Formats: sequence, C-alpha cells, structure tokens
Amino acid sequence: MADHPTTLDVPPLPLRGIHVWQFGLYEAAVSSVRLEREEMERALRLRNEFDRRSFLAGRRALRLLLAAYLDTSASAVHFVRRPCPVCGLAHGKPELAPPHEGMFFNASRCQRHLLIAVSASSEVGVDLELLGRLPDLRQLAPLVASRRENAGGLPGWPNDRSVLRLWTRKEAAVKAAGSGLTLEVTSFSASDDSGDGWYSTDGTLCGYRVYDLPLPQPLVGSVAVPGVAQPVTVFDGRRALAAR
Ligand SMILES: CC(C)(COP(=O)(O)OP(=O)(O)OC[C@H]1O[C@@H](n2cnc3c(N)ncnc32)[C@H](O)[C@@H]1OP(=O)(O)O)[C@@H](O)C(=O)NCCC(=O)NCCS
Repeated sequence: MADHPTTLDVPPLPLRGIHVWQFGLYEAAVSSVRLEREEMERALRLRNEFDRRSFLAGRRALRLLLAAYLDTSASAVHFVRRPCPVCGLAHGKPELAPPHEGMFFNASRCQRHLLIAVSASSEVGVDLELLGRLPDLRQLAPLVASRRENAGGLPGWPNDRSVLRLWTRKEAAVKAAGSGLTLEVTSFSASDDSGDGWYSTDGTLCGYRVYDLPLPQPLVGSVAVPGVAQPVTVFDGRRALAAR
C-alpha cells in the first residue's frame, strides 16, 4: 500500500460483499482531512450548528474511508451527484467521480452516529436511526408499511421498534435505488424473510435485498443492495480512527 498517512487501515473489499463502518461523529470531527469548497459552502448553508458540525465530520470520515479503500489520499477523492429523479438537477445520489467510479458507497447520519456502506460491485444504500428519539412511532405505521405489511408484516407490529426497523429497511432500499424518499415507501414491502438473514423487497423495488445490521442499542440500521444477497460485515470505525 502506498504511504498516505491520513487514511485508515481497512481490509480488502471483496467483489461480492458489503462493508459497513460505524463511526462516532465526535471522533470523526477531529480528523484533519481537508474538504472541498463545495462541501464547505454546503456546510455554511446549514443554519443549525449541530447539523453543520455533523455534516463536516461525516464528510471527513467518508473521505478518509474511501481514500483507504482506493489507496489514495483523502483530497484525491471527488464526488459527483446524479441527476435528481424528480427535477433532473444535479442533487441526486452522490457517487465517486472518475477515475474512482467503479466503487460504490452510501452514508447515513443520526445524532452523533454515522454509518458508511461500501461495495466494489453494486449500488448500496444504508440508513441509521435511533430508537427512542421520536415518541410513539406506532402512529407512523400506516405511512411506512405497504398494504400487505399493515395487515401483519413484522413480529410485534406495530410497536416503536418494528416501525423503526421497517423504516430503516425501506430508506436503505430507496437510497440504494438512488430515488431517495421521492419514492413512496408504502409502494413496496421489505419484510419477506428469505431465511438467510436477508429480506427481499417487492412492489416498486422488486428485487432488492435488505439486511438488518447488528448495531448496539439504541441504534437501528439497515443496508440494501439490488440483486442477489451479499455477505455484510460491520466494522468499528471508532477503533480505526483511534488507531491512526
Ligand atoms: C436521501 C435521503 C433519503 C436522505 O435522508 P436523511 O435521513 O436526511 O439523511 P441520511 O443521513 O440517512 O443520508 C444522507 C446521505 O444520503 C446520501 N444521499 C443523498 N441523496 C441521496 C439519494 N438520492 N439516494 C441515495 N443517497 C443519497 C448522501 O450521501 C447524504 O450524505 P451527505 O449529507 O453527507 O451528502 C433524503 O434526503 C431524500 O429523500 N432526498 C431526496 C429528496 C429529493 O430529491 N426531492 C426532490 C427535490 S426536486
């Protein structure tokens, strides 16, 4: 590996398999990674101080991690955004700019926590939420579940945990697809247990696979990919940052 002192120590990324990294935004904030002008401008547009700091810390961790996988420096990582599926403007799903466009990633922040999913071969989407952050999620059940799921999709349905779990599966799926929440999450189901730890989706996102991530409470997270199931490994980004 070339000498890039700002990068993290990461295992090789297999062709078939998703790596998901869990970071704390406090730890990520202290890294000295330089950001691009567009990122600084976007941060300045965020009025809330906490949101601004979270965004900047998240981008630093993202650059460090992708640079490590790409065996380059964090400042050599550049992003482009896909056209928005609604208006066509360039504010859709972020992806790596050439010459690194062969690697896929997606990120999700919640409070002081960050997940980054990376794949060498397929689109990926990830979502992270915190149980207990919002009161009484049961009332959101009809806005999350498909008609079939509302008729009895998940164990304990609907309680706070099952509603949040279904939400993270669905947000991960729409992020993998690149539509984001412009796609109605009630238009597909994500609760068919395939028996191997994966859930298949049907309806408008037919053919996606969703995996519930083993995260410490109160974190609830899911990752999604199109097509066949792939092994998912979760890594401790806090430890990796501390070891730099
Ligand atoms: C993408 C979206 C689901 C993120 O939801 P969220 O809960 O606010 O945020 P998360 O922390 O989970 O994810 C944020 C990350 O998702 C990624 N992201 C952004 N747009 C995305 C998209 N269309 N698809 C997949 N991932 C996307 C980015 O990496 C972003 O990180 P960043 O803030 O550092 O750039 C939501 O913002 C959305 O649906 N946006 C689309 C809205 C839209 O385009 N409307 C039409 C306007 S014309």
